[in-house]
Amino acid sequence: MEDKYPWLIRKVKQITGIDLESYKRPQMERRINSFINVRGMRTYEECVRELTENEDFRRKFIDHLTINVSEFFRNPSQWKVLADEVVPLLLKERGRIKAWSAGCSTGEEPYTLAMLLMEIAPGRFDNIMATDIDKQVLAKAQAGVYGSRSVSGLTPAQIKKYFNQQNETYTIKDEVKRNVTYKQHDLLKDPFPGSCDLILCRNVVIYFTEEAKTVLYERFYQSLRRGGVLFIGSTEQIFQAREIGLQSLATFFYQKL
Ligand SMILES: C[S@@+](CC[C@H](N)C(=O)[O-])C[C@H]1O[C@@H](n2cnc3c(N)ncnc32)[C@H](O)[C@@H]1O
Repeated sequence: MEDKYPWLIRKVKQITGIDLESYKRPQMERRINSFINVRGMRTYEECVRELTENEDFRRKFIDHLTINVSEFFRNPSQWKVLADEVVPLLLKERGRIKAWSAGCSTGEEPYTLAMLLMEIAPGRFDNIMATDIDKQVLAKAQAGVYGSRSVSGLTPAQIKKYFNQQNETYTIKDEVKRNVTYKQHDLLKDPFPGSCDLILCRNVVIYFTEEAKTVLYERFYQSLRRGGVLFIGSTEQIFQAREIGLQSLATFFYQKL
């Protein structure tokens, strides 16, 4: 199967539009192989046939490859830095915040940002753009319905304030939801919005190749207005930040010079 990998990813691109060329091969290959092995397939040809003919298989395949795990206030100490240092700095410079959650998965990240800004910058932020390549997660984000595990990182007061609870189901309140607009968007090929004050791209690039990451960070640089801030994931670091024109503001936060 190994030497057929380039053929498979060409087919995946034709059928789903997702370009796996920019994702690290060993990890992606392992994920694809385990997905098709579990389903009793032995060849990539069988996989391509199913991708073409079976919509349910296609959806599950995309879901498996995109890895959608998220949480409200994921890495709380970093959200504290955002609230205590970054947001006040942005407000001081611009008075109003235009934010983009790139790779937002099922919505926990943009809703966390909405809750935070509603607390500390009410009326001083634009509708939050939230994008992901995977349509299915966007539908879940838009619905805003979560189980008890998803809200376990929130205080009872936050849950009461921002969710309608019915038994074990927690639905995000409309007043939070209306601050976020979801849109399908592929970070590897679609145009980026401009003049952003704050971009969150966390736990998305883990499987991207180094080349794809560099291009992406350069494009985020273009998307930020001067003084704007990029907030990345807790296992990530931008090694070539200076060359791109970004300076480290705090760990996991980079500011456009
Ligand atoms: C692990 S989740 C991260 C969710 C959230 N940012 C967080 O940190 O909790 C990664 C998300 O990146 C999305 N993703 C992967 N490749 C992408 C691409 N090329 N363009 C946009 N989103 C992508 C996946 O669909 C997935 O929802």
